Amino acid sequence: MSELEIAGCSKYYKKNGVPMCALADTDLRVENGRFVSIIGPSGCGKSTLFNIIAGLIKPSSGRILLDGKDITQESGHVGYMLQKDLLLPWRSILDNVIIGLEIRGIPMKEARKRALPMLKNYGLGGFEYDHPDALSGGMRQRAGLIRTLLYDKDVILLDEPFGALDAQTRMQMQNWLLEIWKDFKKTILFVTHDIDEAIYLSDEIHVFTHRPGKIKATIEVDLPRPRSEKTLMNDRFLTLKKELLLMLREERVSSD
Ligand SMILES: Nc1ncnc2c1ncn2[C@@H]1O[C@H](COP(=O)(O)OP(=O)(O)OP(=O)(O)O)[C@@H](O)[C@H]1O
Ligand SMILES: [Mg+2]
Repeated sequence: MSELEIAGCSKYYKKNGVPMCALADTDLRVENGRFVSIIGPSGCGKSTLFNIIAGLIKPSSGRILLDGKDITQESGHVGYMLQKDLLLPWRSILDNVIIGLEIRGIPMKEARKRALPMLKNYGLGGFEYDHPDALSGGMRQRAGLIRTLLYDKDVILLDEPFGALDAQTRMQMQNWLLEIWKDFKKTILFVTHDIDEAIYLSDEIHVFTHRPGKIKATIEVDLPRPRSEKTLMNDRFLTLKKELLLMLREERVSSD
């Protein structure tokens, strides 16, 4: 049970000695168990927001609360799959996915024992002892996700996990993620550039403005679950898609 609250967070970076606002005052409450997406132009501060939530960088203002407790600047409270989540090339897939458990002080033998059924159940059976370069892009992303899940936090942040995949693999991965979300009952905050992906996966989508990013609109995705390829042809899906396309186009036009 975990509710995440972003309260008045902003972030300024220094660019040539001058403060540059990357993220404007942002408030966002992510309710327990929801699948929430963020979509917005490149450079609008999405990864910055995730780094703030994960406690990796200090916000210029604002706080992060988890179940009402202030966790600003504290790491280790949420699972986080970074935009460029690299697997360690010298470790086997099995030893890559247990990194989070190792960080938490669980002995390697025990960590491996926990990870093996996960790899088998989620499509990486037979690849446990291979190194990352022996896997396809989709499989590597799967390993990255399993690693994030094994870290075993209620809230997980996924920053464009499927951005580099081809359309077909992407669809498979989306269905796989929905299955995992159902099985593990996590609260997910997800960044994507792909409108179809955002609608297909989410309960709720927050559209960000161009830099400095702030929430421009929130869309409730009232499509039934379980979702399937049929969802993509649903009239409601197409209406939501049009709404989002227009909003994002507005952001592109106003940033020109
Ligand atoms: N460590 C940093 N130092 C200085 N500027 C930074 C730093 N990190 C990010 N920025 C700047 O802040 C802005 C927001 O970056 P951020 O990576 O959060 O955007 P994003 O929305 O995740 O973009 P994308 O969709 O391309 O991943 C950009 O202009 C970026 O250049
Ligand atoms: Mg980013």
